[in-house]
Amino acid sequence: MSLKRKHLLGLEGVSKEEIFEIFEAAQSMKEILQRPIKKVPTLQGVTIANLFFENSTRTRLSFDLAARRLSADVINFTSSGSSISKGETLKDTARNIEAMKIDAVVVRHHASGVPKFLSEVLKSNIINAGDGAHEHPTQGLLDIFTLKEKFGEIKGLRVCLIGDIAHSRVARSNIEGLKTLGAEISICGPATLLPREIESLGVKIFYNLDEALKNADAINVLRIQQERMESERFPTLREYQHLFGITNERLTKLNKKIIVLHPGPINRDVEISADVADGEHSLILDQVENGVAIRMAVLFLICTNKQN
Ligand code: NCD
Repeated sequence: MSLKRKHLLGLEGVSKEEIFEIFEAAQSMKEILQRPIKKVPTLQGVTIANLFFENSTRTRLSFDLAARRLSADVINFTSSGSSISKGETLKDTARNIEAMKIDAVVVRHHASGVPKFLSEVLKSNIINAGDGAHEHPTQGLLDIFTLKEKFGEIKGLRVCLIGDIAHSRVARSNIEGLKTLGAEISICGPATLLPREIESLGVKIFYNLDEALKNADAINVLRIQQERMESERFPTLREYQHLFGITNERLTKLNKKIIVLHPGPINRDVEISADVADGEHSLILDQVENGVAIRMAVLFLICTNKQN
């Protein structure tokens, strides 16, 4: 086993060997999930706290289920309805929860850097479930795992991330992981949503969607994150849909089968049309299925690492 880390805070700095180690474990977890009884005793006696300070459907349920499938005990904390509204600080909340004898913390927070901060003030293993616009490592891993299942290899694969890159932790984690595995990465969207400094990571920038699609084997379509925009970045959603929306009409023109991913939640008929989301190009539900296996793999490798 080569995953020698106490925390998973991001995919930046995670090696190719570590990613493959996680994928190998996820493959075994996927097999467990096909069984009639989808549960193993691997993490019996381990207690995991899911601390969600920001809304979530897929990620929260997926981490919760992953922990239960491994027989861990799980406590779920969401900031709404908690003592955060009474003025308790993040550090106090986290330390109090840790005093209840937990082993690992899965955390989602609207501020970048919170998982790193918790790794400095707690003794538990910390797993980042999305921090601000920084990273969302398990989403990056499950996206890349889904592509690997489809294409066999990531090296040389042309992957384009489309849409709101500026506010997307999913984009950042995808770029880090894909870069480590040798993919050819590009991004496409309105100039106001594409951070220029990303070029220094070796990522190609397209401002024209048809050009980007021509040069890609797979695309990962991202949601317009209006809740993170401090000002308007494009005139109207209708115009965005017209210029950057993924529609069947656009994909049919390509004369090749391009694979479509979307981390969810989808804004149907804004960044992706309903027929593409539910159609033959889409691996969206495979991503969700693989998400549980990836999170089981990460929890297993981190919580059973003897060096912790
Ligand atoms: C993403 C997130 O929260 O970062 N969703 C997810 O975890 N599947 C992307 C988004 O909110 O658009």
